[in-house]
This record gives sequence, C-alpha cells and structure tokens, in this order.
Amino acid sequence: MKAHLFCTLPGMLASPLEAGVLKKARETGALEVFLHDLHELSPDPHRKADDCPYGGGPGMVLRVDVVASALESAFDVDADRVRERMPVVLLTPQGRRLDQDLVRSLADEESIAFICGRYEGVDERIREHLSSLEVSLGDFVLAGGEIAAAAVLEAIARLLPGVLGNVRSLEEESFSGPLLEYPQYTRPASYRGWEVPEVLLSGDHGRVRRWRAEQAVQRTRGRRPDLLAEEGEHEGEE
Ligand SMILES: C[S@@+](CC[C@H](N)C(=O)[O-])C[C@H]1O[C@@H](n2cnc3c(N)ncnc32)[C@H](O)[C@@H]1O
Repeated sequence: MKAHLFCTLPGMLASPLEAGVLKKARETGALEVFLHDLHELSPDPHRKADDCPYGGGPGMVLRVDVVASALESAFDVDADRVRERMPVVLLTPQGRRLDQDLVRSLADEESIAFICGRYEGVDERIREHLSSLEVSLGDFVLAGGEIAAAAVLEAIARLLPGVLGNVRSLEEESFSGPLLEYPQYTRPASYRGWEVPEVLLSGDHGRVRRWRAEQAVQRTRGRRPDLLAEEGEHEGEE
C-alpha cells in the first residue's frame, strides 16, 4: 500500500513511522509512506497554509488552495479527481468513527491519502471537493490530524500481508468478531500475590479454550454490551 499524508507538521510523524509495526511494514515493503508538507507545497509566497475565517471568529483555517495544490503536485491530476483514484481521508472529529470494519476496508486499498487538519479546522471546500471520506478517532478534539492519521495507519499496517509475525493474533483479537478478547497473562505465574488463573497453567487445552470463550463473553457483556446487541440484530440476516 502507498500512503500519502498531507499535513502541516510532518515532523510529528517521524517517530511513529520509525518504530514498531509501521517501521516493520515499511521495511517489508508492505507499506510505502509519502509525507507531503503543506507549508512547503503552499502556493503562498510566505508558505502559509492557513488564514483567518470568513465571517470572523477565533483561530485559523486550513486553506483549500494549499491542500489542492499539494494534491496536484503529488498526483499530477486535478485535485478533485484524486478521490477517483484512491480514498482521500479527511481526519476530522466530525467524521465517521473509526472501527475495525473501516480499518479492514481501508487495508484493501492500493493507495490512500490522508489530509490532516490543524488550527481551528479546515475550509469546508476541502471536505466538499477534495476528500472522499471523513474519519474521526472518537468524540474528542485533537490539535491536529497527524496523530489521528498515524493511528489509522498503524491499524491498517498490522493487517497488511507479512507485517505481523503471527496472523492468529488478528483472528482472535477484539473486534475480529462480536466479542472482546479474553484476558491474557504471561510470566511470572505469581507476582506479589497476584496470581494467574489456575486453568491457564493446567495444560488442559480444552479447559483453556472454554475458559477463554466464557471470559470473552463476560468481558463483552460487562464492558461493551452494545456489541452483543448489534450481533443479535444481525442474527437471521442473509
Ligand atoms: C482543533 S481540531 C479542529 C476541530 C474543529 N474546530 C471542530 O470543532 O470540528 C484540528 C484538527 O485536528 C484533527 N482532529 C481533531 N480531533 C480529531 C478526531 N477526534 N479525529 C480525527 N481528527 C481529529 C482534524 O484534522 C482537525 O481539523
């Protein structure tokens, strides 16, 4: 996958891209990342990427001409046509809340572009004419889209072929099905009187499997009953 990130603070992405799963995905060639600095690419003589909001009000707004010319310089096509070639994801708290289904569908794309807002927000015409999908990390407000884009990209990267050593971890984890994952433990078996459940030390694979299945249901019921309700709603479909 080729991922293009358009942002005003590309330096914020340096460290996430150089560590862990994102580093591995880049090293294996599963992921290529292109950082596009909106200041450097700005047509403004002072390399400004933002301006005051029409109608007044606090803060600054990311300019549509800056984002359009950055898209054009990256893809050599009219900015409003980039979204015909790939998803152009605008990171915004007003977007569709990210979930694993969305991550899975984005991971199937060959290329993807992310537009990271900053300041008070982005000119509405970026949303209307340049992006094809608005994505939010959740109901809270970050100062900019860079960290949000890194989070989406890491979630995608771990699904790309060859990136995770053990693909079973993808099958059993939370949101791979309707249930949250069961609790995990590792050595030491006893620490300050905090014990690992006996069943996990028993060597009885059948008991372990049953215990994990029960724990996953209990956990989901306690923390995310909405997931079980959703699953109930889908039963009988098809
Ligand atoms: C301070 S926020 C702007 C919020 C905007 N004034 C509003 O009320 O919707 C600046 C930028 O951070 C990013 N951002 C903030 N919160 C986010 C979230 N929950 N998910 C994704 N991106 C977010 C967006 O790119 C946004 O344009």
